[in-house]
Amino acid sequence: MSAIELKNITKKWGDVTAVDNISLSVDEGSFVVLLGPSGCGKSTTLRMIAGLDTASSGTISIAGKDVTSLPPAARKISMVFQSYALFPHLSVAENIIFGLKVRKVPAPIRQKRLEKVVDIVGLAGLTDRKPSQLSGGQRQRVALARAIIAENGICLMDEPLSNLDAKLRHDMRVEIRALQQRLGMTVIYVTHDQAEAMSMADKVILLRDGHIEQVGTPEGLYGKPETLFTASFIGTPPMNLVELANGPEGAVVLGGSDHVVFKGPGEGRVLGVRPEDISLSDDSGLLVELTAADYLGADTILNAPVGNQIIQIRVPGRYRLGEKNRVHLTWPQEAVHIFEKASGKKIENSNITTGKVGNAA
Ligand SMILES: Nc1ncnc2c1ncn2[C@@H]1O[C@H](COP(=O)(O)OP(=O)(O)O)[C@@H](O)[C@H]1O
Ligand SMILES: [Mg+2]
Repeated sequence: MSAIELKNITKKWGDVTAVDNISLSVDEGSFVVLLGPSGCGKSTTLRMIAGLDTASSGTISIAGKDVTSLPPAARKISMVFQSYALFPHLSVAENIIFGLKVRKVPAPIRQKRLEKVVDIVGLAGLTDRKPSQLSGGQRQRVALARAIIAENGICLMDEPLSNLDAKLRHDMRVEIRALQQRLGMTVIYVTHDQAEAMSMADKVILLRDGHIEQVGTPEGLYGKPETLFTASFIGTPPMNLVELANGPEGAVVLGGSDHVVFKGPGEGRVLGVRPEDISLSDDSGLLVELTAADYLGADTILNAPVGNQIIQIRVPGRYRLGEKNRVHLTWPQEAVHIFEKASGKKIENSNITTGKVGNAA
């Protein structure tokens, strides 16, 4: 049985369809990330699961029970927000046990659970402080502690790390994931940051304009994007998506030379290849002139304009421009993804060399 299941959930705000007929399931004890650009319906979906917003249509089940019309308190779910949502006039300890007090959990039990979670989230020694006397990371730990102490088993998190600086965000990412696994929590985590999704999720649900674009493991989304949107959203830098044209002997890069990238029609198609799958060669492949080198420490991102398009290449270590700017680009055939430009859909390998553009369905 799924811990959480959404069936055909739609949410309309007047004329705006924020969430458009979404169905999804979350296994018990798993870490599921709702990923997508701003405004795609992530928060609305999460708030409907929590019961803070009401779905326009569809059903939501928790542990096999239909909770669609139940109020938040009856759903036994904890929530962590980007804004922390702490009470400024209450101490750390009082903030953490607030919900238990409301639910009239006896004081000795509250105290015992408080000591335990304070330890788990690393807030020992800080429980008498007010939120204003804490750093951003510590405040988010208070919010986490408040979610954990409820012992609900299901925790919903809406961009909980967005207010933290990059280093702390990375540390907290690792901590939250470890905590989730240690406590066996079921987590739905909302973020617009693909790196966060890739590093934390068992399953990623990629949303776009209120609908589900693709569902998969992080490796699945990275390795087998089904659409141009998924290909462009996962990875930094993302996959090169190069428009093609028909050359004399097969598909060529639009605006580039007659170098054949595969035997088959190119017009209306887009070639996807990740920067890390491209190698530089002295004598074979697509001839380009490198125009920029962005050194990142472990590797360098090179820019190679072809017509109006720029192909990016990731090479290990430091690559200095000037020594050798004219190079050939090569990539293994299995690293290539072909998409139909009009529909944005991936073309199956067996159809690439034929005249069929896109899925015939
Ligand atoms: N309370 C609301 N009233 C009207 N429109 C809303 C409301 N909340 C969200 N929306 C709209 O619904 C869409 C999805 O919003 P949201 O779920 O907050 O996106 P995300 O969290 O992915 O950034 C957006 O177009 C947003 O403007
Ligand atoms: Mg949001």
